[in-house]
Amino acid sequence: MGERITLSVIKADIGGWVGHSSVHPRLLEKAEECLSQSKDLVDFHVTHVGDDLNLIMTHRLGTDNEKIHKLAFDTFLECTKIAKEMKLYGAGQDLLSDAFSGNVKGMGPGVAEMEFEERPSEPVIVFMADKTEPGAWNFPLYKMFADPFNTIGLVIDPKMHDGFVFEVIDLIENKKILFSLPEEMYDMLVFVGAPGRFCIKSVYDKKGNIAATSSTQKLNFLAGKYVGKDDPVCIVRCQSGLPAVGEVLEPFANPHLVSGWMRGSHSGPLMPVSVDQSNPTRFDGPPRVVALGFQLAQGKLIGPQDFFADPAYDKARATANKIANYMRRLGPFEPHRLNLDEMEYTTMPLVMEKLKERFVPVDEEEDEAAAAKEE
Ligand code: 13P
Ligand code: 13P
Ligand code: MG
Ligand code: MG
Repeated sequence: MGERITLSVIKADIGGWVGHSSVHPRLLEKAEECLSQSKDLVDFHVTHVGDDLNLIMTHRLGTDNEKIHKLAFDTFLECTKIAKEMKLYGAGQDLLSDAFSGNVKGMGPGVAEMEFEERPSEPVIVFMADKTEPGAWNFPLYKMFADPFNTIGLVIDPKMHDGFVFEVIDLIENKKILFSLPEEMYDMLVFVGAPGRFCIKSVYDKKGNIAATSSTQKLNFLAGKYVGKDDPVCIVRCQSGLPAVGEVLEPFANPHLVSGWMRGSHSGPLMPVSVDQSNPTRFDGPPRVVALGFQLAQGKLIGPQDFFADPAYDKARATANKIANYMRRLGPFEPHRLNLDEMEYTTMPLVMEKLKERFVPVDEEEDEAAAAKEE
């Protein structure tokens, strides 16, 4: 077995070009420059999905390491300077504070990290999505690690036949629970079928080895208000007792509906795309997902392989566009528009305040009659 390595993916939206559609090349260059100066990284890859800047890094310092988090944070600050100079949209949007406090979690950026012993061959896939939220990974993670109709390895590979353990977080109560599948499949589905509240944080094999982890974290409440759907990332290790690369990519062939899209307040299909195609346009969407594959070799990131650039995903994109078209026709009506609790934007309190005198009890006349009778 090889040495222990940590794979950290830390991302932030620090300014859109144009609007919320993409990341300006100067920001990508600046981020490369910042990371290349670090002595702590074994390797790194800078990329983006839509307007989110993603830092994919390998190192030997373990997860939640202050040096690595500070490196990412400082990189975002440097990029924010350029974003402000170019007046990019929402420059510094995901940096809730510019004073680093030891860990970027809860400060705006999204983080997915895992530490493991590098196997003789270590294929990993980094998924990155724009215009959605961490719960978007529930459906594909469930398919990859628990659905035999997606992952035939669960049935025919002796190394996978025992199933996997899922860690699920309750974002509202800030609690977590482990489910062992397939035994507890029905119990788990009660929860993860509600991805706005219960998110799959990580997946382990039954020996306790990490297989997948997402950027799910406590919701960002600022002054009691939920600020920003966090465009999420997810890391999945593949092969040799874990789902094959093709089994990990397979759930995205049928675009599922996720929350996000325009103003973080709509439901729409998650469209699998290449990095080059990852810039949302129509109604600031539809939501996108990119999958970059790497072989790790002594911590070096051999790649990326931009998986969804493949024509095998053309049909999925066509399906996503068809669903997008259908959903758009519903305009401001649910379920295209999210329900009141989930919307990132709402005018409801304002409109309600304005109209409150005009709301009268439905049964007012009956109530009055009843009151008169009592007298
Ligand atoms: P492994 O068991 O080596 O991961 O092979 C499975 C495979 O690649 C089938 O597609
Ligand atoms: P981002 O979360 O990707 O910045 O998108 C925000 C938005 O409001 C899109 O309409
Ligand atoms: Mg943005
Ligand atoms: Mg975004």
